[in-house]
Amino acid sequence: ATAPVTVTVTGAAGQIAYGLLFRIASGAMLGPRTPVRLRLLEIPAAVGAVEGVAMELDDGAFPLLESIDISDDPWIGFDGTSIAVLVGARPRSAGMERSDLLAANGPIFTDQGSAINANAADDVKVLVVGNPANTNAFIAMSNAPDVPAARFTALTRLDHNRAIAQVAARADVPAASISRMTVWGNHSATQYPDIGHALIGERAAADVIADPEWVRESFIPTVQQRGSAIIAARGASSAASAASAAIDHIHDWVRGTPSGDWVSMAVPSRGHYGVPEGLISSFPVTCADGEYTVVPGLDIDEFSRARIDLSVAELAAERDAVIELGFAKRG
Ligand code: NAI
Repeated sequence: ATAPVTVTVTGAAGQIAYGLLFRIASGAMLGPRTPVRLRLLEIPAAVGAVEGVAMELDDGAFPLLESIDISDDPWIGFDGTSIAVLVGARPRSAGMERSDLLAANGPIFTDQGSAINANAADDVKVLVVGNPANTNAFIAMSNAPDVPAARFTALTRLDHNRAIAQVAARADVPAASISRMTVWGNHSATQYPDIGHALIGERAAADVIADPEWVRESFIPTVQQRGSAIIAARGASSAASAASAAIDHIHDWVRGTPSGDWVSMAVPSRGHYGVPEGLISSFPVTCADGEYTVVPGLDIDEFSRARIDLSVAELAAERDAVIELGFAKRG
């Protein structure tokens, strides 16, 4: 066994956390040899419910689960944490505009970014799941000047996995035969799922499918709208699949991506692919030794360029809005 790792999950009484915590405890995220110390962060009104979740975690008798601590104070909840999964957020309620949503989430991610800056372990890695995920991650990053910016990421792995699922179904192949899928931009309806570099086995996915109209008219909108389709069918937003994607994101970041393949993560741009520096935008990345690298040198055709630019423009507008609201500074 290796040394125990402290993992903080916020929104620990919510639906995604209910799918996530048991898999973290089972070793699915950090591997079968790494003991875990869980820190569960919630708002005061939900602490009782988290205590119930902790009882169920106890009842799993997970060999790797060393301890569970519950708090409603981010200054305690991020103490010594190496992996911070920020799931809790203010949901959009009826009549709320996107700007209201940004305003409602600003204080949460300002506080949590500050607490991570002050109290987390030196090697902390942050994954923001709570929406608007990319911009919430941007706010947290902006409030944690002592943590390397690259450690702040947001979840687009669910979109990536959804894109693989659509291609697998269309080509009638197992998901495992698909590699090099890419999602660009914001975790929103403007995201751009791109099969232009994807492979099915050894062959270009676009050649195997040979149906550009399907890609344009079906694949892209289906992946973009998948969250709404789940809500319509299930009567609640994606939870187990989001939890599974969060497991995949941290697992691959910590343990590496398979050779020859890559995954999608929203990470702070350093100017890659024309995305303005600092925006937390989805890119294809490879991971090794606990670090990710944006895949360099992919050809971006005109079709892709326009779609990436559209989603990145939305991210820039969200960034400007939260700077305007005082939750982050420019530069
Ligand atoms: P939920 O409403 O079931 O749970 C959210 C939990 O967060 C609640 O228990 C709430 O009390 C808690 N919370 C709120 N503010 C908090 C704070 N300041 N500190 C700690 N906890 C806090 O929601 P669910 O279904 O678990 O979704 C969580 C978030 O994930 C939502 O914002 C949702 O939109 C987002 N999401 C993101 C996806 C992605 O791919 N990036 C996919 C699906 C959902």
